[in-house]
Amino acid sequence: MIKDIIKLAPLALIALVACGGGNSGGSLSAEDRFVDSVVNSMTLQQKIGQLNQVTAGSVEDMEKLAAQGMMGSILNESNLDNLHRIQKAAVENPPHIPVLISRDVIHGYKTIFPIPLGQAASFDPELVRNGSRISAVEAASDGIKWTFSPMLDIARDPRWGRIAEGYGEDPFLTSIMGAAAVKGYQGDDLSDPTSIAACAKHFVGYGAATGGRDYNSTYIPMRLLRNVYLPPFRAAAQAGCATYMSSFNDNDGVPSTGNKLILTDILRNEWGFKGFVVSDWFSVGEMINHGFAADMKDAAQKAITAGLDMDMVANAYKDYLEALVSEGKVPESQVTNACKNIVRIKYRLGLFQNHYPTVSQEVKYAPEHLEAALHTAEQSAVMLKNNGALPLKNAKKILLCGPLADAPHDQLGTWVFDGEKSHTVTPLTALKQAGYDVNYVPALTYSRDNNTSKFADAARAAKSADVVIFVGGEESILSGEAHCLSNLNLQGAQSALLETLHKAGKPVICVIMAGRPLTITDDIKNCDAILYMFHPGTMGGNALVNLVSGKVSPSGKLPASFPKNAGQIPVYYNQNNTGRPASGHEILLDNIPAEAGQTSLGCTSYMLDTGFGPLYPFGYGLSYTTFDFSDFAINKTEFAGENDEIKISFSVKNTGEYDGAEVAQIYVRDMVASITRPIKELKGFKKVFLQKGEQQNVEISVPLSALKFYGLDDKEILEKGAFEVWVATSSANEDIKWKTKIEVK
Ligand code: NOJ
Repeated sequence: MIKDIIKLAPLALIALVACGGGNSGGSLSAEDRFVDSVVNSMTLQQKIGQLNQVTAGSVEDMEKLAAQGMMGSILNESNLDNLHRIQKAAVENPPHIPVLISRDVIHGYKTIFPIPLGQAASFDPELVRNGSRISAVEAASDGIKWTFSPMLDIARDPRWGRIAEGYGEDPFLTSIMGAAAVKGYQGDDLSDPTSIAACAKHFVGYGAATGGRDYNSTYIPMRLLRNVYLPPFRAAAQAGCATYMSSFNDNDGVPSTGNKLILTDILRNEWGFKGFVVSDWFSVGEMINHGFAADMKDAAQKAITAGLDMDMVANAYKDYLEALVSEGKVPESQVTNACKNIVRIKYRLGLFQNHYPTVSQEVKYAPEHLEAALHTAEQSAVMLKNNGALPLKNAKKILLCGPLADAPHDQLGTWVFDGEKSHTVTPLTALKQAGYDVNYVPALTYSRDNNTSKFADAARAAKSADVVIFVGGEESILSGEAHCLSNLNLQGAQSALLETLHKAGKPVICVIMAGRPLTITDDIKNCDAILYMFHPGTMGGNALVNLVSGKVSPSGKLPASFPKNAGQIPVYYNQNNTGRPASGHEILLDNIPAEAGQTSLGCTSYMLDTGFGPLYPFGYGLSYTTFDFSDFAINKTEFAGENDEIKISFSVKNTGEYDGAEVAQIYVRDMVASITRPIKELKGFKKVFLQKGEQQNVEISVPLSALKFYGLDDKEILEKGAFEVWVATSSANEDIKWKTKIEVK
């Protein structure tokens, strides 16, 4: 009966159950009553159908599958007419449940924003929220109601190509940015036609792949998992994230897709998650490769038992769940619960009322979307060096050089399926539009190009220019999924080109567009200024012009430490102190005499050829202007209880010649604890915009609960004792502005 009501009048059913007219009644919410009434009347087969996610095939096949009720969700189909046909087939046939249309909308749909790593560099969660909102609006106009984003994997290894897709190395920054992305995609109300469901991925630990090799095993002990890798996922749950995706990796021997501890015990039982979990692509089937399941049937059993609700493309649930239930190996209630989790999200998305998109097609590349992408690209750029070459002052003639100066596809970055390169504004186009006298001699045609035959032309052109702007880095395909590298130097002959340009004697401004921190150690000397733009997206060229011209002062800060060379990896800032911390006298390879006798040299934990620190630390980034910090104060020095709050106030003044923004960062160190704790942890930040000469009072609060950690016995605790708290403009000790001690009583 319920099925017929849905078919005939879904709105009437929703009204009926909302008024308590559903067949469950009692104290259940309207949502629970609706979900119960729909799912309780479904056959086992129909329930299994909802657990099945398929990838696009021929539209006839898809229609058939949808009509049979065997398609809970589809991915990779973007043709609006096809989607309409598929949806029609689903809602007009039993069990009349709309298909959830999904897609990888990772950093924009049509309007492409900087890659997530770049967005993290903005240190401005509002930009991330707004960018995700725009992505949702554009995607929803094509019927997409679910994106596989945000990626919340902590990445301490830039060899791992997927560092591009997340918010970097820090759990706090990733938590803040991830929650902002979830709120942006999902909006204030998931049932709004412009809202789409977010997916927190990859749950969990995927970023710690051995050696930075994608898909590789991880070995994250429970305390590290709790204190570093899980927090962004917990923040996403708190932000109301509708779905999660299990990761490909096996952590300490257990593939995530079959890991009950994370999928059920932590996600559902501890965090109260009510949405659903999808596997990653074929990761149910990959449990066979892992040696964790004997065959597809075994894999299906392990996945559903662990708490995995939806099977992405492996067909394991579709083919084997019915038999597993009839053999008594999987209780039907397990299938029912998974189905309810999926139907619940469809209900929340308003899919039972609106099966077809209602958002206007005109929203794509809307002027305000392009404006937001421009602003985000400007705020995401990190200036790593400037000897005064920037901003351009009297430069009239520019030599524009390098493989990414006019690369409309590559500046968009990884995971772009829908944004068209015809909409990209490259540096070449933008500089010309801005009226600069540009001589464009690319010298290298793509980032891996080793052909130096045009270098002499470039050198000649450099001599007759006022300034050289080199735009290089990585093509988009060199980062992202399955694109890992062991050598992070500039690819091809780019370093040689920079050297050639430098020798020409004119200021060289080096702009890098890349999906990861690159080891530009040996290039720095050949550059007068370095602007790191990550892959900046559709509006990257305009952003570059506004930055180099001085219209906008760079204000991005690094979301990941930059290693000096790949051998120094991992080199993240929030490491433990060790018994032999790298501090004091730094002995380097060159200081060691020949035939030196056996000695422990510096006796501390570092490498002789890289020294103590990274090339550039987490949180670092320069500006055209200068900032003075003063009037530091803290609300008190003794704190008690996790509801207490540390409030740090200070004043920041723009003392330079340009308007600009500084990111004030609060770090904390727990001096002595029941387990060893990091030497510093970011616990708060605020990006402060100040016009030239302007001064502002700033207050940053850190709830005492942020000092909690998982200690012995897998328990989260707030330990009494001494902490150091400081205000800084990067994670480096040199950039500390003020430091104080507090006591937790
Ligand atoms: C595999 C990737 O790991 C995941 O991030 C993506 O969302 C799915 N494929 C779907 O394309």
